[in-house]
Amino acid sequence: MMRIIAMINQKGGVGKTTSVVNIGAGLARLKQRVLLVDLDPQAHLTYSLGVRAEELDTAVYDLLKGEATLEETLLTAHGLKLIPSSIDLAAAEIEFSTEVGREAFLKNVLQQVNEVDYVLLDCPPNLGLLTLNALTAAGEVLIPLQAEFLSTKGLQQLLAMVEKVNQRVNPGLAIRGIIATLYDQRLRLHNEVFENLREHFGKMLFRTFIRRNVALAEAASFGQPIFEYAPNSHGARDYAALCKEIKTMGK
Ligand SMILES: Nc1ncnc2c1ncn2[C@@H]1O[C@H](COP(=O)(O)OP(=O)(O)OP(=O)(O)O)[C@@H](O)[C@H]1O
Ligand SMILES: [Mg+2]
Repeated sequence: MMRIIAMINQKGGVGKTTSVVNIGAGLARLKQRVLLVDLDPQAHLTYSLGVRAEELDTAVYDLLKGEATLEETLLTAHGLKLIPSSIDLAAAEIEFSTEVGREAFLKNVLQQVNEVDYVLLDCPPNLGLLTLNALTAAGEVLIPLQAEFLSTKGLQQLLAMVEKVNQRVNPGLAIRGIIATLYDQRLRLHNEVFENLREHFGKMLFRTFIRRNVALAEAASFGQPIFEYAPNSHGARDYAALCKEIKTMGK
């Protein structure tokens, strides 16, 4: 059974892309076959795996449009399959907005994928059409949350969108969990915020918190997963622990 997981938060810079790369790489170390999909025109996921988005002939935009095949678009990087993004994707929100079935383009593409255990979808920082495509294709949602900038309002909007998708187009969709990212144990504010989160979300919050660790940012700029760049770092340990939690949840 292939698990399709969307990494979503409309707030920028909360660790979506970092989590997709390193959960993907962590699951691969657990002998899982992983496909990552970059749904952000910024192409940060693509660059984080050392692939130069500006040099690609085909990327996810062409695939969603039906102008390239899966084989033409699919790459392999660091033991992971990747459907890369490019700046062209910025046009998709407007271009696709009047098309019939526009929320299911990605779902249709992913139906051709086989020999993969996990598909992780990296979403842009908004709740637009690309995020809607991810929610329509996915079975599970992961929400990375950064403590300092915790916005209950933003989270409510996000949960409301998931709920609507759930009721209208994808009844199988479940929120699998909230990932605390960029966690700094030394800050009292964080401890308070996470006490609140625990009270509020209970088991929805993963037990593993992802600590703030500069090696995670460095790894991305070197185009490597954390397990290659700094296998003994806090970042590597935290993402490895999180992967075990995700894997044992099964489906
Ligand atoms: N745990 C961490 N410790 C230190 N730096 C981190 C950590 N997680 C992410 N970062 C860095 O913070 C920045 C934002 O992270 P990331 O790109 O993963 O967020 P994002 O939610 O995908 O952002 P966007 O919404 O713009 O796509 C990046 O520079 C990344 O390297
Ligand atoms: Mg990102």
